[in-house]
Amino acid sequence: MTKPEDDVGGATPPPAIRTELLERRYGRHVALHGLSLVVPRGRVFGFLGPNGAGKTTAVKLLLGLVRATGGEGMVLGLPLGDPAARRRIGYLPELFRYQDWLTGCEVLGAHAALAGIAKAQRREAAERALATVGLAGEGLRRVGTYSKGMQQRLGLAVALLGEPELVVLDEPTSALDPVGRHDVRGIMHDLKARGATVFLNSHLLSEVEAVCDEVAVIDRGRVIAQGEMTDLLRAVGVDLEVEGVSEQEILRLGGIFTPPRAASFPQLAESAVPELVAAIVGLGGRIHAVRPRRATLEQRFLDWLEVP
Ligand SMILES: Nc1ncnc2c1ncn2[C@@H]1O[C@H](COP(=O)(O)OP(=O)(O)OP(=O)(O)O)[C@@H](O)[C@H]1O
Ligand SMILES: [Mg+2]
Repeated sequence: MTKPEDDVGGATPPPAIRTELLERRYGRHVALHGLSLVVPRGRVFGFLGPNGAGKTTAVKLLLGLVRATGGEGMVLGLPLGDPAARRRIGYLPELFRYQDWLTGCEVLGAHAALAGIAKAQRREAAERALATVGLAGEGLRRVGTYSKGMQQRLGLAVALLGEPELVVLDEPTSALDPVGRHDVRGIMHDLKARGATVFLNSHLLSEVEAVCDEVAVIDRGRVIAQGEMTDLLRAVGVDLEVEGVSEQEILRLGGIFTPPRAASFPQLAESAVPELVAAIVGLGGRIHAVRPRRATLEQRFLDWLEVP
């Protein structure tokens, strides 16, 4: 599936992730049906879906931790599971536990070695990662004495070691307090600012809405929705507070009037709002408020899953 842009020697770097009909079966159970995705470089990509949808399976396939039973994929221009690609990927697994008797610094040191960081630079890299995740000064404590949130922060520090080009985070904030979640959002913004790509599995839709450029939603192993966040949350319909126009005039403009002064235009595109406002003012109406109806990602998510 090498495409011109996957040519490592070419001018354009290959996309961070490209999969084509990637599939994983466990016996007769299909955990992931034909996943086809392209994640360009430098994006924060949200991968959503209910429990058991196949998100973690997809992540394990991308990292080469699990073998595909069908389809194919490339990560950073290299085949799935290629060790050279793996060294350029930071990964926070969903369920992980480091050995309790190791210190945070020892865990980071071991992973820094795996990431190919030279021995002389490992300590500094570990300390930088600890500081980034809010664990500065905690590196000499044993992991067994860390709280749940501290362990998750350490996992994130591991994923950030060595400035990876792609950072794959499988529910990075499930154990974090609100400040920790806010910090992780900042970390994702910083990763994006330095050109890294983030692939994020998360159930926290407000968090996804705040940081992701694009999302794909999967359900029972199949992609059921995908798109740019701005398109997915684009306003459809507008509510006005208006006086000085009749119910008939609102009706003629395509709206519904609810006395004393609420008018709604459920089908109106955001781009048509200025014309509507001008038309009402032209009829002698006075507009007190214009409120575009913006869907939250959570509402959209429930619609996609057809939850009544
Ligand atoms: N090793 C395995 N053996 C058998 N079935 C598996 C295995 N790993 C995953 N599955 C099945 O594949 C499906 C997808 O699981 P996966 O862990 O990818 O879901 P997920 O979307 O990450 O869910 P969650 O939101 O709960 O983390 C589930 O039905 C799960 O039971
Ligand atoms: Mg999972």
